[in-house]
Amino acid sequence: MSEATLGGRFTFPGTSLTVQRIGYGAMQLAGPGVWGPPKDPDGAVAVLREAVAAGVNHIDTADFYGPHVTNGIIKEALHPYPTELVIVTKLGARRPTAESWQPANSPQDLIAGVHDNLRTLGLDALDIVNYRAMGGGAGHGPAEGSIAEQVTALADLRRQGLIRHIGLSNVTAAQVAEARAITDIVCVQNQYNLAQRHDDALIDDLARQGIAYVPFFPLGGFSPLQSSTLSDVAGRLEATPMQVALAWLLHRSPNILLIPGTSSVAHLRENLAAGQVTLSPQTMAELDGIAAAAVAVTH
Ligand SMILES: NC(=O)c1ccc[n+]([C@@H]2O[C@H](COP(=O)([O-])OP(=O)(O)OC[C@H]3O[C@@H](n4cnc5c(N)ncnc54)[C@H](OP(=O)(O)O)[C@@H]3O)[C@@H](O)[C@H]2O)c1
Repeated sequence: MSEATLGGRFTFPGTSLTVQRIGYGAMQLAGPGVWGPPKDPDGAVAVLREAVAAGVNHIDTADFYGPHVTNGIIKEALHPYPTELVIVTKLGARRPTAESWQPANSPQDLIAGVHDNLRTLGLDALDIVNYRAMGGGAGHGPAEGSIAEQVTALADLRRQGLIRHIGLSNVTAAQVAEARAITDIVCVQNQYNLAQRHDDALIDDLARQGIAYVPFFPLGGFSPLQSSTLSDVAGRLEATPMQVALAWLLHRSPNILLIPGTSSVAHLRENLAAGQVTLSPQTMAELDGIAAAAVAVTH
């Protein structure tokens, strides 16, 4: 597969890590509710192997998916890892029960989390670790507040050689600025898609700094995006709505990297082919109307 079909390449700033812009998010490989083993363990391994065979070299994970489940599947499917594969993991949460996602953000929690990820992935050092702030309430939105203690702890782990590079997840622009004053930040992973565009200004600012923006829930998450505009555009372009949603992100800004999640080889192939969908400025403007309509409905 040519590199253009996976959206082209992106190098994380100040690093030697270059990835295809279309990667893969492993969260959907755990069991229902991101808890326990998958219903189809062989199918989960097959999805990962198919992704890498197709040229994907950026996989997003967390040891709290399962917990320990997705990292174990990644290790089973892909270890020893291809040299060009960049595995990005995240710290900051724990899963005491199937229903709960709790903060695990003391320096001791973060140190333990790094060692858990090293063990479950079978690595000596982690390429990129995102500090995932738990934000406010039950949703996926960020909440203001200092993250200096956590970023300082990750910077210490980086100096020890256990982490190569540091990113952030579920953070505000102020938290990004605070973290960047402490250490180099190579990526930010927040919720963003055609209908959820709170981070428009942050994306543009990060693009000016060459920092990757990696939207989570690029397809809408557990309830994939539904929109008549999206379906109309997809029909005209002979693409699927999910391909158009991903192509819109690729066109939105050159620092956006995709990590769509799926437990299905068929959906994986469909998502990887989104790099072949070209959107004109007029179509981009039409798709921009989806978020405007969503805002109008909720106000
Ligand atoms: N930092 C954070 O806080 C955070 C939070 C959430 C997720 N993440 C990361 O972001 C990644 C992406 O998020 P996500 O997986 O939750 O959501 P997503 O990529 O927006 O969507 C995944 C959902 O879409 C379905 N899907 C995927 N491809 C499809 C297709 N071509 N056609 C129809 N349905 C399709 C999947 O079901 P099937 O399995 O049936 O395909 C799944 O239900 C995760 O894997 C994880 O690595 C990070």
